[in-house]
Amino acid sequence: MEDLSNYRKSYEKSELLEHAIPEDPINLFHRWFYETEAQGNTDEVNAMTVSTLGLDGFPKARVVLLKKFNEEGFIFYTNYESEKGRAITANPNVCLSFFWHSMERQVIIKGIAEKTAASISDGYFDSRPTGSKLGAIVSNQSSVIESRSILEEKLKELENNFAGKEIPRPEFWGGFLVRPVEVEFWQGRPNRLHDRIRYHAEDDYSWKIERLSP
Ligand SMILES: Cc1cc2nc3c(=O)[nH]c(=O)nc-3n(C[C@H](O)[C@H](O)[C@H](O)COP(=O)(O)O)c2cc1C
Repeated sequence: MEDLSNYRKSYEKSELLEHAIPEDPINLFHRWFYETEAQGNTDEVNAMTVSTLGLDGFPKARVVLLKKFNEEGFIFYTNYESEKGRAITANPNVCLSFFWHSMERQVIIKGIAEKTAASISDGYFDSRPTGSKLGAIVSNQSSVIESRSILEEKLKELENNFAGKEIPRPEFWGGFLVRPVEVEFWQGRPNRLHDRIRYHAEDDYSWKIERLSP
């Protein structure tokens, strides 16, 4: 067995203290997101892990790209018939997580997912390059396929069919908006005494802020 017990690092870059945080987790997320981007050492700052509870009873986590966020929540796009799409349809409770290692930070968002309005999905689909649009149509995401060449042939066929034409968004592809119910911010600190601040959505739309033991 490979022994990785010597892999360790002291986290010393920043801190997360109650007197310096906003009342709303979206504001803090906004601050952390753009600080990470500005720092410059994180490729795809918007890459996040979305975890779902599967129809087979197993949790499953995979990376997707965050495409929008605001007070309402966090939006990503996918195939509604994919494994994650079906899982979310059956159980909309999901978890989104970000690990920004260049900042020694993690954000974990528990929330409830819903399909975005068709107009929002249309707007984003229209903004995609042609190759991405056709790729979304070609891929019956998460289904078993015989070979890669099937996909490539299908793509060529679609390229011919749609040459010079508008490409409509397929109904099976669109956005999920995840409305947050709990957002936890983790800042690495020395001696494993990390800062963890959790925001929990209250019934009156305020956020309860609590510190968690590392
Ligand atoms: C960096 C990165 C970004 C990705 N972005 C997306 C995305 O925005 N939407 C998506 O459906 N899949 C995306 N994927 C692929 C997913 O991780 C996953 O393979 C796919 O959605 C199928 O997942 P499922 O079978 O669990 O539904 C991305 C993968 C990586 C590594």
